[in-house]
Amino acid sequence: MSRPPCFVANWKMNMGLKASESHLSDLIKHCADVVLAPSKIIIAPPFTALQTVSNILNTAACEIDLAAQNVHFSPKGAYTGEISTEMLCEIGCKYVIIGHSERRILFSENDEEIHKKLVAVRKAGLFPILCIGETQQDRQAGKTWQRLQGQLNSVFSEEFIASGLCDTVSDWMIAYEPVWAIGTGETPEPADVAEVHQQIQALIADTVGKGVPRILYGGSVSEENIVDFMKTPDIDGVLVGGASLSPKTFFEIIAQGASAK
Ligand code: 13P
Repeated sequence: MSRPPCFVANWKMNMGLKASESHLSDLIKHCADVVLAPSKIIIAPPFTALQTVSNILNTAACEIDLAAQNVHFSPKGAYTGEISTEMLCEIGCKYVIIGHSERRILFSENDEEIHKKLVAVRKAGLFPILCIGETQQDRQAGKTWQRLQGQLNSVFSEEFIASGLCDTVSDWMIAYEPVWAIGTGETPEPADVAEVHQQIQALIADTVGKGVPRILYGGSVSEENIVDFMKTPDIDGVLVGGASLSPKTFFEIIAQGASAK
């Protein structure tokens, strides 16, 4: 596929306003100073920094898209502490991370809620970065694909596909993030990731039939392993947590990863 590879920074619950500003100005300076191989860059700051980051990105010398880390599925109402798609659109978000394993596990988000979020995101004209991944137990029981397939099938319902809201699926991102690889320094072999990515592509091509999204890998991505991942076919990009918190490291991941593609 000839789409430029995608590098997404998920800052999680890190970086206040000052830290976001200084991080971003460093990252933009790095990106503006060198000629990068074609690449798509997305930053997902915490909610409180979205406006500040959006303002900076609007006048940045390089193109970086804005993503939110979460959203509520209702358009508005009595949902204390929640944020709607309309609020995210107003602030300049283009993408929303949905179904991250930290939300599934720590905040008990289930497939039904994730599906509702996906519908809300598409209705608002935003694009999902949909995360799926198996746990260590799934893996040890040889049930990796069964878990991923279940997560995908529950969001791609027949009704959702028939609604036309999935017609843009080729502009979405699916992030394959094995739970056991997140923040642990442990990673699967790139060839094994590629095999899973091919299965994801095939499932979406079969069920939705409107092209395939970029399939990203996430889990302990670093300067040391980015080249091995990105030179592997069917890995269209990465979703980076810890290593995205240093602008220099994230920039190195983009620069090395983009030229490895
Ligand atoms: P780490 O890169 O810190 O393992 O986190 C991955 C992740 O959860 C990105 O969403």
